[in-house]
Amino acid sequence: MAEESLTVRDNRTGDEVEIPIVDGTIHATELKKLGLMSYDPAFLNTASTRSSITYIDGDAGILRYRGYPIEQLAEQASFLEIVWLLFEGELPTQAELDAWQDEVRMHTYVHTNVEQFLDGFRHDAHPMGMLLGATAALSTFYPDAKEIGDEESRRLQKLRLVAKFPTIAAWVFRHSRGLPYVFPRNDLDYIGNFVNMTFEIGGQHEPNPVLQRALEILLILHADHEQNASTNAVRGVGSTQVDPFSAVSAGIAALYGPLHGGANEQVLRMLDEIGDVKNVPAFIEGVKNHERLLMGFGHRVYKNYDPRAKLIKRVADDVFAQTGIDPKLEIALELERIALEDDYFIERKLYPNVDFYSGIIYRAMGYPTDYFTVLFALGRLPGWLAQWEEMLSDSEQKIARPRQVYTGYDERDFVPMAKR
Ligand code: ACO
Repeated sequence: MAEESLTVRDNRTGDEVEIPIVDGTIHATELKKLGLMSYDPAFLNTASTRSSITYIDGDAGILRYRGYPIEQLAEQASFLEIVWLLFEGELPTQAELDAWQDEVRMHTYVHTNVEQFLDGFRHDAHPMGMLLGATAALSTFYPDAKEIGDEESRRLQKLRLVAKFPTIAAWVFRHSRGLPYVFPRNDLDYIGNFVNMTFEIGGQHEPNPVLQRALEILLILHADHEQNASTNAVRGVGSTQVDPFSAVSAGIAALYGPLHGGANEQVLRMLDEIGDVKNVPAFIEGVKNHERLLMGFGHRVYKNYDPRAKLIKRVADDVFAQTGIDPKLEIALELERIALEDDYFIERKLYPNVDFYSGIIYRAMGYPTDYFTVLFALGRLPGWLAQWEEMLSDSEQKIARPRQVYTGYDERDFVPMAKR
């Protein structure tokens, strides 16, 4: 008997099957030999893919992109360098980075019809709904994006998405405010251009390098997070061989949800509702009584401090040194202090996640609450695309189609209306 294997015995029949253990996993299809399926709602213990992009050790609080610790990347890299790293697997040389930045600059404009398309949204449309719709609409402008079997075409679509996403994200912001759209400026870098497109008024915007670097770090921290809900959506939808604009819009939809990227918006709403530090203990009691969630706390894989949350606290210091302290920060710090000392949170290993402080920082930068998740999407886009590419080049992947355990009626005869 092979040592690296698992013997499964069906006690109903005495049948046995020996299943190889590879990389700490067993292949679920091996259970077919016993006429069995595995049942794992919400994928609590199921790996859906092999991946060489992002490594997380949730117990130790470790996050690495392509082997590089997130702390080093956040400290030293630019966002476009990270995008290259996620796409290509290696850090770019200076020449590669220069060429990549130039290429991205060449693709920042969107078809002029996108303006009219965005104009069709109501003035109070949620920014994530607009981003979702506009990204899906982009697929209609690039029919060649359907050529997902062509490596060069895939590269071009990824480039288009990375380059045009800030333009669309910024225009969504302008639409919400009733401001005219600002066109991309090729003399600015990726972050500077985005910030300019959001905040420029009358041709004027005074850039603040500290805030721009803080935003860049936040985007880097969000760039990938292995098989999270939105990436799983991109992979699942992409597995049907649809174009990447449509697959990415599925990721945006997943990110919109309050249990995922939408949590940063919910954290701010929660802090507004708490209103004052003196109300924190009563709020925590409500959480412990399961009346509500402490938004921005807990994570499916981190059962320790989310390493991104640690880095974000440092970014917050830099930002608040520029903008002045937000009183909401005081409430957040008190929530964290009480929660980390409380048995309810200790026993369940609930720590602040990336969303706990990001919203307060975005607000200090001047972004409205309902826009926070768009900023998350801007950061996560390269991760979605790297994972989409990896999925397509993985010979083990097929259309994602889970099985089910049917719990409904056996066959029964149709009842005519008069007899119901
Ligand atoms: N507040 C209070 N209790 C919580 C919280 C929370 N934020 N998160 C988990 N718990 C409790 C659950 O009620 C459960 O308690 P129980 O055992 O008494 O029933 C226990 O902790 C385990 O929680 P699960 O829901 O089983 O954990 P799961 O891995 O399914 O959920 C999730 C993870 C969705 C992130 C959850 O912690 C949550 O809802 N957090 C709040 C929303 C949030 O911040 N989402 C952002 C996640 S990070 C990101 O997407 C970028």
